[in-house]
Amino acid sequence: MEIEQVSATVPDWSRERVGRFWDPGKKLIRAIRRYQAAQARGGVAGRLVAKYWVLNHWFWSLVTQSELHLTCRIGGGLRLTHPTGIIVHPEAVIGVNCMLFHQVTLAGPVVLGGHVDVGAGAKLIGPLTVGDHAVIGANAVVTRDVPAGATVAGIPARVISGPDAGPGATP
Ligand SMILES: CC(C)(COP(=O)(O)OP(=O)(O)OC[C@H]1O[C@@H](n2cnc3c(N)ncnc32)[C@H](O)[C@@H]1OP(=O)(O)O)[C@@H](O)C(=O)NCCC(=O)NCCS
Repeated sequence: MEIEQVSATVPDWSRERVGRFWDPGKKLIRAIRRYQAAQARGGVAGRLVAKYWVLNHWFWSLVTQSELHLTCRIGGGLRLTHPTGIIVHPEAVIGVNCMLFHQVTLAGPVVLGGHVDVGAGAKLIGPLTVGDHAVIGANAVVTRDVPAGATVAGIPARVISGPDAGPGATP
């Protein structure tokens, strides 16, 4: 999906930088980041600021019709391209520089490695782990671990390129 080599370990924070007022995906992520920073700071001021970001998060969640919990563990550089209908279970962990297209669901304890791109409408049913630089095809239903560097697609998802690809290969 992305031509340039994106790091699986070093977060590229420019991917999250809010560039304009109407930037729902980036503003949703920003609300989570700011909430978590305020909570970590603690104290009365921290709690007050956190409350503001709860409201802000609620607003952008409504706009995007998405559920990314305030306590989600998300590596830096998350990109939500076409941010609508994205559901991320509170126990899911997202690595650095990942990208989630619209209508993606991370159900249960799903662990995405670094630089994982998840195509539109894909459903990942945990517990499972996706390796670094993997690509999940549009509308895939992933129920097993995905090796690093693999591209998987279909229902149930199978490796179509990268490691272990071949007739009958499964993630
Ligand atoms: C999975 C994906 C990355 C594969 O791209 P690719 O490596 O270029 O693969 P190809 O297009 O060469 O397809 C290889 C095979 O997988 C099949 N395939 C590709 N994507 C598939 C998908 N999402 N579901 C089921 N099968 C798929 C192709 O039909 C082809 O099968 P064949 O060998 O029997 O002809 C890509 O098809 C995809 O789904 N990207 C998601 C893009 C997206 O969500 N965009 C949203 C934009 S708004």
